[in-house]
Amino acid sequence: MVTSSGSFEEIAERLRAAGCVFAEEEARDLVEAAATADELAVMVERRAAGEPFEHVVGWVEFCGLRIVVEAGVFVPRLRTELMVAEAVARARPGAVVVDLCCGAGAVGAAVAASVGDVELHAADVDPAAVRCARRNLAVLGGHVYQGDLDGPLPAGLQGRVAVLTANVPYVPTGEIRLLPAEARLHEPRVALDGGPDGLDVLRRVVAVAPRWLAPGGHLLVETSDAQADQASQVMAAGGLDSQVVRSDELDAVVVVGRRHDGGR
Ligand SMILES: C[S@@+](CC[C@H](N)C(=O)[O-])C[C@H]1O[C@@H](n2cnc3c(N)ncnc32)[C@H](O)[C@@H]1O
Repeated sequence: MVTSSGSFEEIAERLRAAGCVFAEEEARDLVEAAATADELAVMVERRAAGEPFEHVVGWVEFCGLRIVVEAGVFVPRLRTELMVAEAVARARPGAVVVDLCCGAGAVGAAVAASVGDVELHAADVDPAAVRCARRNLAVLGGHVYQGDLDGPLPAGLQGRVAVLTANVPYVPTGEIRLLPAEARLHEPRVALDGGPDGLDVLRRVVAVAPRWLAPGGHLLVETSDAQADQASQVMAAGGLDSQVVRSDELDAVVVVGRRHDGGR
């Protein structure tokens, strides 16, 4: 194929020279995604300039779904598929599922797509993320709200939530500068910065979770390996029975808290 950006080989070479490790695959997907030769040329230049591939094409594959992700919105990570698997294992058909800090809505979408019949609610503080989540969850009947943590959730959900997922920002503030440029420069700080020890938002979620969880309901949060024990202690101090789940394959850690059957 010859385009205004050159042949497929030239595009792949341009991406390779810019440091893209998967230059061939990305060239193929860019050619497929672009509607016109001019659009393709712009996409190739954006990618070569260092924008995340997912922002350039406007989607990411997550749990077998194509999730819309606009420029400037946190790109769902492969490791978060562990949180989805753990959530799915705890969500029966008909369950109320809430995804806080939902970003583009990937976690809720994947849980709903896998379990089938769930009542799904999702919320995020970032208007661009909420816009994406509304697009991604519309076909699944999900309700999406904008606001601080659980602030915008309908009061009628209190005590009814079987599964509460929250992939909160958890990078310690001092480590933001160590992140790859794609995250540091192209994802919003609010999606990454978890405060001095990375657990500020997690602590806030644990503090409000018992209000929303049904007796026996579960809270699931992703952490780094180094944070897992401390996060587990935060959950225990918040009155939840906690458990740490690890996946070497996904390089992922999820801390699961369970509200006691008798409530609190
Ligand atoms: C690490 S990203 C995860 C996004 C999504 N759950 C995923 O896994 O792709 C964290 C998200 O938390 C949101 N966020 C951060 N602080 C928040 C707050 N106080 N209230 C609501 N959302 C918040 C950010 O806007 C961002 O979308």
